Amino acid sequence: MKILKKILLALLIILIAMQFYRPEKNNAETDLKTAFLTETNPSKEVKKILETSCYDCHSNTTAYPWYNNIAPVSYWLADHVKDGKKHLNFSEWENYSVKKKDHKLDEVMETVESGEMPLKEYTWTHKTANLSSTQKEALIEWVKNTRALYQLNLLQE
Ligand code: HEC
Repeated sequence: MKILKKILLALLIILIAMQFYRPEKNNAETDLKTAFLTETNPSKEVKKILETSCYDCHSNTTAYPWYNNIAPVSYWLADHVKDGKKHLNFSEWENYSVKKKDHKLDEVMETVESGEMPLKEYTWTHKTANLSSTQKEALIEWVKNTRALYQLNLLQE
């Protein structure tokens, strides 16, 4: 029993110590997503879907929940954001080639259709991020139209 108490105490001390270290937040001062929005021209509805369900992990600004102040949750969230941004970052759209934009939109369609995105861990705590079938349809239609324009090279600056 004595050893168990010592272990628990050690864990508690580690947990408290962890609170002093915060991962850097993903909150760029200016994050206009101008290139992405002007090129792909999402409808109001699609824009709202992206804002509510995707931007937290796929742009340079995350709206953090209160529990992000608690380690190790903060590290876990920071990891998701970092990983999400690595795969797709709407704030960095202007740096993608036309081919990459087209491919990323294809992946958007695939991951939304299969229900892979938004991540389950996210929708558990962000109920409004769940996509209805109407919302999925709107998103997919926008992807298809936009991809057609990219493929015809009609969306280059
Ligand atoms: C909680 C964070 C989170 C949210 C919210 C989220 N994603 Fe992701 N997304 C990730 C992570 C992490 C990855 C990379 C790992 C993986 O593929 O599971 C990823 C990967 C992707 C990829 C790339 C898949 C690939 O094969 O490389 C696409 C496309 C994508 N997400 C689209 C979306 C869309 C569209 C939404 C909103 C409807 C969304 N994501 C919401 C975290 C998130």
